[in-house]
Amino acid sequence: MRSSLALVPDADDAFSASVTERLDAVESRIREVVATSDDMVRWTARHLLDAGGKRVRPLLTLLAGSFGDMSRDAVIDAAVLVELTHLATLYHDDVMDDAPTRRGARTAHEVWSNSVAILTGDFLFARASALSSTLGPEAVLIHAETFERLCLGQLHETVGPSPEDDPFAHYLSVLADKTASLIASAGRLGALQAGCDPAVADVFARYGEKVGVAFQLADDVLDLRSDPETSGKAPGTDLKEGVPTMPTLLVRRRAVSPEADPRTGRLVSLLDAARDGGPVLDEALALLREDEAVEETAAMARSLGAEAVAILEDLPATPGRAALIDFTHALIDRAA
Ligand code: IPE
Ligand code: IPE
Ligand code: MG
Ligand code: MG
Repeated sequence: MRSSLALVPDADDAFSASVTERLDAVESRIREVVATSDDMVRWTARHLLDAGGKRVRPLLTLLAGSFGDMSRDAVIDAAVLVELTHLATLYHDDVMDDAPTRRGARTAHEVWSNSVAILTGDFLFARASALSSTLGPEAVLIHAETFERLCLGQLHETVGPSPEDDPFAHYLSVLADKTASLIASAGRLGALQAGCDPAVADVFARYGEKVGVAFQLADDVLDLRSDPETSGKAPGTDLKEGVPTMPTLLVRRRAVSPEADPRTGRLVSLLDAARDGGPVLDEALALLREDEAVEETAAMARSLGAEAVAILEDLPATPGRAALIDFTHALIDRAA
């Protein structure tokens, strides 16, 4: 999936044309904001940017901006701010997950080193922060609070639940922090910078919290079922790194329930050993892919998607709202 506008195939023609034009402006502006005379960072910072990506968050910023004055430069800059922040998290996340590929390219830590990848992510955060200062104190605060939640989500995922925590509630709060926080801010900032009423920005905050978790649950399914050519990522990366995902939590819960069968027990032992990679990882991946837990995860994503669409009912019926409904379904039923 190359263009984010492919996520809204049925959008009104005139509306699509104006969004396409602004997405092009976002692309040029990202490159301006990342430009540097530093000989090293010039390459490292462009590495993942040039590799592709769906630009889901900038599209959401623009769609939210359509409820006000989408033509403002500040709406473009809000979209750039969220994409740069996202990009920075990808550099860091790939180090944490030891991911070999991203956006169809070798990850930055594979090409250079962990330190270079982490510092490039920090550089992008710095550029994003500088950009936020041009959007006003409210944007700076939203950005800082989002950054905090991104860190906490990644941290809580790494550390895992305490014995007294419910692992499902813990996992859903990780998804809300590591993914939904930025998606919520993407819409909220678009609405605010377009001069929308705060009530519209609030719709996007609530919508983003739901659709963001749904998006990440869809990512859990893709980690197991995606075609690497399409997703640009290596399947089973989470499994190999022992990163918990909704399907693995569901399988582990079933294994200790009265419905446990030998197949589930075998799958849990494979999951425990999958970190060694090789044939064990392949077998774990093959069994898990066919497990009902994957469909259950997809159903959870669809149900949260339906809740997100219901929140959009609070917006006026415009081509932007119709596009947002399409966009929501596409985020969940995506192949990449
Ligand atoms: C990947 O996000 C990280 C998650 C939060 C799942 P995207 O799926 O939006 O990645 P790109 O930007 O298209 O590469
Ligand atoms: C990514 O989470 C979330 C952030 C980058 C904050 P994942 O680790 O699940 O996403 P992918 O699958 O690598 O894109
Ligand atoms: Mg990852
Ligand atoms: Mg991760």
